[in-house]
Amino acid sequence: MQLNDIKQIKSLFPTLHQKVNGQDLVYLDSAATAMKPTAVIDRITRYYQLDNSNVHRGAHYLSQRGTDEFEKARHTVAEFINAKHDSEIIFTRGTTESINLVSSSYGRNFLKEGDEVILSIMEHHANVVPWHVLKTEKGIVLKYVYLTEDGQLDLEQLKRLVSSKTKLITVTGCSNTLGTFTDLKAITAIAKSVSAKVLVDAAQLVSQHKIDVQELDCDFLVFSGHKLFGPTGIGVLYAKQELLEQMPPYQTGGSMILEVTEQATTFHRPPFRFEAGTPHIEGVVGLMSAIQFFNSIDKTWLRAHEDKMLNAATSELEKLGDVVIYGSKANKAPILSFNIKGVHNSDVAALMDQQGVAVRSGHHCTQPLMKYLKTVGTIRASFSIYNDLNDVEKFVASVKKAKDLLL
Ligand code: ALA
Repeated sequence: MQLNDIKQIKSLFPTLHQKVNGQDLVYLDSAATAMKPTAVIDRITRYYQLDNSNVHRGAHYLSQRGTDEFEKARHTVAEFINAKHDSEIIFTRGTTESINLVSSSYGRNFLKEGDEVILSIMEHHANVVPWHVLKTEKGIVLKYVYLTEDGQLDLEQLKRLVSSKTKLITVTGCSNTLGTFTDLKAITAIAKSVSAKVLVDAAQLVSQHKIDVQELDCDFLVFSGHKLFGPTGIGVLYAKQELLEQMPPYQTGGSMILEVTEQATTFHRPPFRFEAGTPHIEGVVGLMSAIQFFNSIDKTWLRAHEDKMLNAATSELEKLGDVVIYGSKANKAPILSFNIKGVHNSDVAALMDQQGVAVRSGHHCTQPLMKYLKTVGTIRASFSIYNDLNDVEKFVASVKKAKDLLL
């Protein structure tokens, strides 16, 4: 039986049930990090109370049991995104490290001067800066796909942009700032028409839609545990087996070797080649628990629930007047980026915080997008699985109060 009762779901998240600034907390910053259900918190505690041991090294019982659990987590992730092989799953510190791994290992070795990498204008800095570094180091060329008038990624422009020089399209599946989904199947098809690789930043997408890497036919896909109701400091890089086989290590040290002599090292096969040192073991088991939790949620209910909150918040905000909402109206996650005309985003967010409503304000690590939208920053409200229409009401009331005080 899948979970589809908002009261029950909300009760599973202890952090939500507290007062901030004397008010009941209304947490609308899940795009920055999602709250954790008790099951995940308990699993991490159990790891330290009962399981603590290192993996892939010890000969003793606890270490063996820990290793089995660690590899079970890898299998859980592989099943979750429908990877063909468990060995296509690399555990990293998060989305940022996963992209750095690809740019450093794949990019440095397989991209050369004049090769073109296409990004969307909605990319998070984590999917921009590593390519800037490679541009400086190797002379690759960066090109951008912009948005249509209704705020969707402009696939016609992308079709015109690709050529035999295009070697990689690196794109978000869901904008962290605007919530807009991108049509990943169409993007992958365009990339394949010129034999380019595709990297999907699924950091926001992963808590929204079912991901199937085989159906998408993407080459790389990355996400973090903490936006999927799991721990911070743990993330995933999925890459096709044949690419991983060719990629050199990103970091070196223990666990990633076959043999070390005084003068030389031979490297282990993937995924171990990319997991040097003692890994974030409690993060890995916590992530497994988060995936099990998310799998227990009725996704049809979730889509309808999140759309209902987004539609209600959007129309109520529009009614207030003097509000600019950025990005697409359709085809988006429950993320609302907006400004009150003539007022700085951080002043609004501070007043909302005083009313117990937690939002993010600023550039959301997407400065190229901010420049494109001709603003320095926005207020971003991101709703999640545990929010409800009562939260939407308090959100709108807090914006109205901020507006009345500031205008
Ligand atoms: N990338 C996270 C956000 O969008 C931190 O807020």
